[in-house]
Amino acid sequence: MSKKSDIALIQKKLDKTIVLVGLMGCGKSSLGRRLAERIELPFADADSAIEEAAGATIPEIFEQHGEAFFRDGERRVIQRILGEKPLVLATGGGAFIDPETRKAIKEQSLSVWIKADLDLLVKRTAKRNNRPLLKQGKPREILANLIQKRHPFYGTADVTVESVDGPHERTLTKLLRAIAAELG
Ligand code: S3P
Repeated sequence: MSKKSDIALIQKKLDKTIVLVGLMGCGKSSLGRRLAERIELPFADADSAIEEAAGATIPEIFEQHGEAFFRDGERRVIQRILGEKPLVLATGGGAFIDPETRKAIKEQSLSVWIKADLDLLVKRTAKRNNRPLLKQGKPREILANLIQKRHPFYGTADVTVESVDGPHERTLTKLLRAIAAELG
């Protein structure tokens, strides 16, 4: 099937929000934005929504209130967005690990794991300096550890798409294909 027919099928059959999950740097936000544009749905980014609600950046929230406080806000923000009309939602890497948030995503959306290998995650996360968890040691070791801990949870998503080390457009084509296959 062509990309065009995948888009048409998704537009016809999708009746719920698509939630992208996966580790930091896998490309959830970039891909989510592009996916939303192609299938003509709104896009939401959970991290940005949390920052907006808190009036503070994620590093500030972690520093001033700790991770548990951040997870509470994340849970509330994601549950609120899931209650809106269908859209494309990119979540922060830890969202799908929280049992309550995972349950809400599983029950109310089509969940998609953007799977990337360690080298790609290290390369992509090195471009920005806004991730508190990666400042607690060596990013490669932290990410390797998170792969061990989190991959089993991400693996329960409805759809898995392997991220390509190259232009986002290539992974987007695979993403459209995988979602169309799931719906069709
Ligand atoms: C986190 C991932 C981040 C952000 C926060 C915690 C995590 O989002 O929510 O720094 O626990 O993996 P991205 O996955 O968009 O970097």
